[in-house]
Amino acid sequence: MVGKTDIEIKDIQIDSRKVKKGSVFIAVKGVAADGHQFIDKAIESGAVAVIGESMPFLAQEDIVYVQVENSAAAAGYMAHNFFGHPSEKMKVVGVTGTNGKTTIATLLYKLFTSLGYKCGLLSTVENHIAGKVVPATHTTPDAISLNALLRQMADEDCTHVFMEASSHAIQQHRITGLQFAGGLFSNITHDHLDYHKTFEEYIRVKKAFFDSLPSTAFAISNADDKRGTVMLQNTNARKYLYSLRTLAEFKGKIIENNLTGLVMDINGQEVHFRLIGEFNAYNLLAVYGAAVCLNEDKHEVLRNLSVLTGAEGRFDYLVSPKDKLIAIVDYAHTPDALLNVLATIKKLKKGFEQVVTVVGCGGDRDKTKRPVMAQVACEHSDKVIFTSDNPRSEDPVQIIKDMEAGVPSAARRKYIAIADRKEAIKTAISLAKPDDIILIAGKGHEKYQEIKGVKNDFDDKRIVKEMFDELGR
Ligand SMILES: Nc1ncnc2c1ncn2[C@@H]1O[C@H](COP(=O)(O)OP(=O)(O)OP(=O)(O)O)[C@@H](O)[C@H]1O
Ligand SMILES: [Mg+2]
Repeated sequence: MVGKTDIEIKDIQIDSRKVKKGSVFIAVKGVAADGHQFIDKAIESGAVAVIGESMPFLAQEDIVYVQVENSAAAAGYMAHNFFGHPSEKMKVVGVTGTNGKTTIATLLYKLFTSLGYKCGLLSTVENHIAGKVVPATHTTPDAISLNALLRQMADEDCTHVFMEASSHAIQQHRITGLQFAGGLFSNITHDHLDYHKTFEEYIRVKKAFFDSLPSTAFAISNADDKRGTVMLQNTNARKYLYSLRTLAEFKGKIIENNLTGLVMDINGQEVHFRLIGEFNAYNLLAVYGAAVCLNEDKHEVLRNLSVLTGAEGRFDYLVSPKDKLIAIVDYAHTPDALLNVLATIKKLKKGFEQVVTVVGCGGDRDKTKRPVMAQVACEHSDKVIFTSDNPRSEDPVQIIKDMEAGVPSAARRKYIAIADRKEAIKTAISLAKPDDIILIAGKGHEKYQEIKGVKNDFDDKRIVKEMFDELGR
């Protein structure tokens, strides 16, 4: 350390462009850039103190320098201190796993709101503070914006906060320093193909979240996931499991699973839910477990849970007024998630309804998943329409060509390509016969489509409703 520490600081920043007179600048090694390169810039903008993993070659007078082993972790602790330990004033529950984080966190937020609490929600879709919406940018915001949001929630007298804790957020120490009341694990699958090589590392990171929970917290994991028990192996928190298959503290059994909802037996009580699909049976068990661990009345919890709908764009379904066509809008944009959704639809079918899938792949992202997604769509649907997702800077037609390479030869007659997403949805709806199921995958809750770098208004659900109308279905 160099310099005096009894100086007044106005705020803390990890982005040198946001530094003002009196700021502390924390130099963090990011994925894209290394904050240590911007120390001089931060000082020029008025930083009075600098935290970093290495000392600058030439120290400036009047500037305090503190060398730390891990500045990302330091940012977590400092942000929590700077904002007055907001997580200690509320019950904060973190949700981790490959799929289901948004769904579980959103259900918890809706449940606790309906139980009469003021709550906060931090998710990839939306951040909420007691009913008000704050748009989300990342799965978890950086440590400083995260603690600022938590401070705002505490100031608004929120009692509970439900947040997604992605593996990136854990690894980058964005949640370091927070006091959690509980942690939930959903499942682990190989989702990001670029992640394959580091799969063990991915598991280790998720487990680190549970390892860091205090003994006052609860930790709830999925007994039916291969990695479910490993997650809780070394935690100090109270351990609980949920399961549809084996003995567990939160034990569920599916009695009915169709397009009108789920009927489940949960710890001996039969309940009807509006959510559909087996994976939602897991999400509901996780949510129920967390509510019980937070000392809520079991019957009250199930009563409130039974009327809830899920998160926007997550197996979100619309029924056409006349022909009772079912359109499912889902965020699935990876081969794994698409397979999951199509498998769920298959289990929900009553008989000979056809499944028509509309799907595209994002531009400027992992190209290897394009043929795989096309293959998954063709193998598990009766008809497929390849279209655009967010092509971003790429040529939409070329993206579709990359997808087509994955179509099995037996499925050549099953698909057509329509680059215009609105036209593609329209065609799917006109192709469908009464009772058929249309899956519109990839964009879920998103309200825009990015083509050639321009974001245009677009909303799958709105288009579906328009087309039901226009086509008189
Ligand atoms: N428990 C679950 N198991 C498997 N799939 C799920 C589960 N819950 C939701 N899904 C499906 O997985 C996809 C992602 O769901 P959701 O957005 O809730 O997950 P997430 O963990 O927040 O994902 P992200 O990492 O993109 O933030 C959707 O297609 C959704 O319908
Ligand atoms: Mg999410």
